Amino acid sequence: MLRTHTCGELRAEHAEQRVTLAGWVHRRRDHGPLIFIDLRDRYGITQIVGDKTAHPEAHAVLDQVRSEYVVQVSGRVRLRPADGRNPNLATGDIELEAEQVVVLNPSKQPPLYIAREVNEEETLRLKYRYLDLRRERMQRNIILRHKTIKFIRDWMSNHGFLEIETPMLIASTPEGARDYLVPSRLHPGEFYALPQSPQQLKQLLMVAGFDRYFQIARCMRDEDLRADRQPEFTQLDIEMSFVEQEDVLQLVEALMTDLVREITPHKRVLSPFPRLTYHEAMARYGTDKPDLRYGLELVDVSALVVESEFGVFRNAIANGGQVKGIRVPGCGNYSRKQLDELNLVAQAGGAKAVATLAVEAEGVKGAIAKFFTPDQAAALVERMGGQPGDLLVFIADKPEVVAAGLDKLRREFARRLNLGDPNLLAFAWIVDFPMFEFNPETGVWDAQHHPFCMVNPEDVEKLKRNELAEVRAAAYDLVCNGYELASGSVRIHDRAIQQSIFDRLPYTPDEIQRRFGHMLEAFEYGAPPHAGIAPGIDRLMALLCDEENIREVIAFPKTQRAEDLMMNAPSPVSEQQLRELHLRVVLDE
Ligand code: AMO
Repeated sequence: MLRTHTCGELRAEHAEQRVTLAGWVHRRRDHGPLIFIDLRDRYGITQIVGDKTAHPEAHAVLDQVRSEYVVQVSGRVRLRPADGRNPNLATGDIELEAEQVVVLNPSKQPPLYIAREVNEEETLRLKYRYLDLRRERMQRNIILRHKTIKFIRDWMSNHGFLEIETPMLIASTPEGARDYLVPSRLHPGEFYALPQSPQQLKQLLMVAGFDRYFQIARCMRDEDLRADRQPEFTQLDIEMSFVEQEDVLQLVEALMTDLVREITPHKRVLSPFPRLTYHEAMARYGTDKPDLRYGLELVDVSALVVESEFGVFRNAIANGGQVKGIRVPGCGNYSRKQLDELNLVAQAGGAKAVATLAVEAEGVKGAIAKFFTPDQAAALVERMGGQPGDLLVFIADKPEVVAAGLDKLRREFARRLNLGDPNLLAFAWIVDFPMFEFNPETGVWDAQHHPFCMVNPEDVEKLKRNELAEVRAAAYDLVCNGYELASGSVRIHDRAIQQSIFDRLPYTPDEIQRRFGHMLEAFEYGAPPHAGIAPGIDRLMALLCDEENIREVIAFPKTQRAEDLMMNAPSPVSEQQLRELHLRVVLDE
């Protein structure tokens, strides 16, 4: 062994022992005859002292080392003088008096500071990810991720689940994104698809009798990337047989509650997790992934303003739209400029603009106040629960535009007013999702989640009558602090019902047979009733680590443009490789 202890291990009780440490030079302070080095590894930092008088050779080597050199130091542990102790450092009671120092490897001047975070370009961090990962924050995140995954594996095993691996080279499975394709050498012109999720495979495992399955599953989706989306990500994929929706919800609720208690004991969860229907969530928060750490609920005031003189409100309602608002405590004194900024926030959600009123003791104030009679204004304030000093922010438009705009505003105000307690994980279940979703771009109905979701038994007649907008699925999401953390559903296990869903989706009979024939066939060989769910591990880790972007909890993430800047992927391949794969590259003009 090149070391006897780690850099986070030594305490007062080790005083006078001879030890050897190895690690990176974190900081170096040169006081002439005394040189101090903070030696770092993933366990912590230990102070090394080079004393020119006592150990001139060790001192001479320490005189040469620079930041990020890898060094091995042997010597005697000694207690620091009382005034030199560092209570913020686990090893702060001691220091290591260097008797022998070996440079195991020098380092060039690193392009990133390791010892402190400065706001450098993210591209630099990603290019030198192996240096970025040396930083304390990243080490903490990656270690917590390991602990979380280990906890999940143990917990699932203890609850009777088997971890089963499923292949990466499969056929396309619809999760609503574009596939990553892999050309086949042995089958010219044919392709594998990388899994967007193991959805079909886990259902087929149920048919195979593995009634409690889980997998820490890698998923690949070629989709537009955002702070909470990576082209490659990890799910805790779960599927269970002989269960109902309630069983899945209770299992995952217990898992998340136990996990938070063990991994981040300083964080709280709401217990039991609140449950909202999809329609309730949309009505009260304008989103199906509401942040329930704070109120700022949407209030429908259409009935109160339809008689007012304000044309924007009246026209919106006349055109089949609505007027809704949120009450923002204490922002009634917003300036003209601040109010204008709110328009930009709402526009990011697709709305044209916001209308605002400031609540005062004697009534309301603002550009649109003149359109309301005192009685109308008073009714409006009462309906909104307004108090003097509050700002009322309204959007008038089609319901989906109102929802999207007010969702953006709700999140923005929560940020400005610091309403989201970082130590509260407000998990909640959103249930009763619509089965179908109309796609205005293609003019056809798609599956809202995926085509394998069971129709709510109460809505079977509506399905038969083709009232697709009204049909609910037995599908559920777990949300937390404004993120969608997991999606799942009770699955169809009956061939006829599955066929009737496919028939209503934009697939030709030929395509159904080609893409899903194996599923339909499997359902003819005794498929048990089953249900499942898949929490996204990266989003979960971002919440546990207090990170906004899931890149911060992934060792080697991709950029917003799906590039790996460190390994330089994607990149061109040789003519030879292309020929073997029967491919020719045709670049657009
Ligand atoms: P869904 O597509 O909703 O469901 O995905 C489940 C969860 O996976 C995470 N997730 C992502 N995380 C990071 N980057 C992405 N690009 C990304 N896409 C999804 C989210 C999401 O809630 N097979 C179904 C599950 C099921 O029905 O059992 C599925 O994949 O946290």
